[in-house]
Formats: sequence, C-alpha cells, structure tokens
Amino acid sequence: MSKIEKPLLTVLQGKTSDHTPVWLMRQAGRYLPEYRELRAKAKNFLNLCLNPEWATEITLQPIRRFGFDAAILFADILLVPMALGAGLEFREGEGPVLELIDNQNRIDQLKYDNSKVLAVYETLTRVKKELPNKTTLIGFCGAPWTVACYMIDGNSKGGFANSKRWVAEKSPLLGNLIGTLVDASEIYLSNQIEAGAEVLQIFDSWGGLLQGGDFERWVIEPTRDLVSRIKSKYPHIPIIGFPREATPADYKNYAQRTGVNGLSIDYDLAIDFAKNNLQPLTVLQGNLDPDVLVKGGSEMLKAAEKILTTFGPRHIFNLGHGVVPQTPPEHVAELVKFVQGYKF
Ligand code: CP3
Repeated sequence: MSKIEKPLLTVLQGKTSDHTPVWLMRQAGRYLPEYRELRAKAKNFLNLCLNPEWATEITLQPIRRFGFDAAILFADILLVPMALGAGLEFREGEGPVLELIDNQNRIDQLKYDNSKVLAVYETLTRVKKELPNKTTLIGFCGAPWTVACYMIDGNSKGGFANSKRWVAEKSPLLGNLIGTLVDASEIYLSNQIEAGAEVLQIFDSWGGLLQGGDFERWVIEPTRDLVSRIKSKYPHIPIIGFPREATPADYKNYAQRTGVNGLSIDYDLAIDFAKNNLQPLTVLQGNLDPDVLVKGGSEMLKAAEKILTTFGPRHIFNLGHGVVPQTPPEHVAELVKFVQGYKF
C-alpha cells in the first residue's frame, strides 16, 4: 500500500507539501445549516458533544462541504471540568456556565472520571474511519489556565476578575487547581491519541489575560508540563499551542519554552513580527481575521494572499480565532479553494 501524504502533518514536520494546509477553528458550527438542523434536534449543545453519532456527523460536515486538510473533533474544552465533577450547563443564547470551584474543599473533591467522556473518544474512532486519506484528525483540550478561569469565575461575563485576583494574591489554590487540570488533561489527551487523534491543539483562549512573569507561571509552565508528559508517551504526535492575545514577547517565550511543535497566532499579532521572530522558532498557524471571512470578496482574498506570501509554504492557514455564526459558507468555500490552489 502506498503511503498517502497528509499536508498538515508534513508541514508540522517542518517540510512543505504541494499546497498550504488549511483548516479553521470552529469550522463545525452555527454558520452551517446542516449543523443548525442537528443542533435543533439535539436540543442541548452538550447532548451533541456526548452523542458519538451526532458528534461524528458534525465533525465531518465541514470536511465534506469544503475539503479542509484537517478535521477537528467536535467537543468542547469544558468537558474536562465536567469529567472532574463540576456542574456544566450551556444556556441558550448565553453560552456555558460552570459550577464555581472557588475553594480548597471543592478543589479537593475534583476527581477525573474518564467514563464521563468515553463518547468523545468514540467520536474520534468513528471519524478516523470516515476521513479521506489526506485529512488529518485533530484532538484538543483547553489549556489549564483557560479552563481554570471558567471554573473559578463560572463564565466570561465578569472578565475573569476572580481568576485574576487569585493570580495577584498568589493564591496556592490556583496552583492546586492548575495541577489537577494538568493531570486530567494528560489522561484526556492520551485517550484521544489512543482513539485516533493525529495532532493535538491546546486552546489557551484567555492566555492574554496574563503577561510576563504571571504568563510564565500560569500559561507556559503548566503547558510545558502537559506537553512533556504527552511527548514522553507519544513523541510522534505534534502539538499546536494557541495562547490567544498574548503579548508579542510572551508569544516568543511560549514558542521557545513550552515544547509545542506549532504555534497558532491570533489576528491581533502583527504578521511581520510573527514572520521575523516566531517563524524561525516553530511552525505557525493563522491568522486571518474572522470578520474578513464574513466580508468575503476581494478584501478576503487579498488578506489571505498577504498571509500566504508572508509565511510561505511552511505554514498552516487558519483564522486568528473561530469562525463566527454569521459567516456565509460560500466565503469559506472560496477561501479554501484559494489557499489550496495557491502556487508560490
Ligand atoms: O469546530 C471546532 O473548532 C471544534 C469544536 C469546538 C467547540 N468549542 C464547539 C463549540 C472547539 C475546539 C471548542 C473550544 C472552546 N470552547 C474554546 C476555545 C476556543 C475559543 O473559542 O476560544 C472555548 C473558550 C470554549 C468554551 C465555549 N464553548 C464557549 C465560550 C461557548 C459559547 C460561545 C459560542 O460560540 O456560543 C461554547 C459553545 C460552543 N462550543 C459552540 C460550539 C460549536 C456553540 C454552541 C451552540 O451550537 O450553541
């Protein structure tokens, strides 16, 4: 059997493929009518994540429609706190609400129950069987800091004021909670690899709330710990980190110190800085503005071309954050065709 090349894996190995691989964060979701249809049937978002048949279908929807180079598991970063025993609810029009874990007693009670997320692993196994040969399967988790923020504050509405207070007051509680999350995430990601994930992404969506020494202590250190534990068991699995809205200096420190193989950059980060200071250190992924994808047309294609020519072929094309619900699917189709057909 001849070996089929997967462009995303090739680029993560530091080589170039016949085209720049492209996938989009939140490529499955509300901008797709076929997602909205299943979502209405499932009633509740959690039911979708925890039903392997539905989650498999949703993971595959954007692959069928657009031919992305990667499929990302359909799940959510908040399933890890759920498996640890924190109450989780997704309220209509409001987003996620987690039970507050804001004292040592509740932290002590957290115990990772793998049986609560077996459906996630089952989804990966099912998706893997259905994917085209050239398509890479991405598993993921939230970074310990970002997941801790949701556990300490419940939701993002208050700007994570309590989480920031725990940092400022150097609360030992934060260290305990983050330690618990590193342990749980190690099990969660290892099981994802065993089930078929070929690449992992660690989402630190709220990494940019911290800077300098705090960023180092609560973003870089736990991520480095998690990455090294996964690498010691699965050295061949590439890991992409996404410390969203970090300062340029913190992005650089993150790329140098966490051990990740790829760095996803948000759309606020200047691409010349990224090219000159980050690309020599690692493989970059990003960073088209999701609003530009909503606008489409020549503005979108010009912005995409600027990213392609700046970074060259050793690059993973993506957005600087997730696809927003008002995105016209035709714009996504045009973007994918443009990136995959681009000749340097
Ligand atoms: O397509 C994919 O990218 C894979 C699936 C995925 C989802 N969430 C599905 C989802 C992934 C990788 C995530 C990660 C996630 N979840 C993050 C990190 C990335 C980021 O966006 O910063 C965070 C912070 C969460 C927590 C979360 N889940 C929030 C804040 C919300 C509400 C906001 C929103 O967009 O509604 C969710 C819900 C969620 N997760 C939806 C989807 C498709 C929308 C749910 C719905 O259909 O109502």
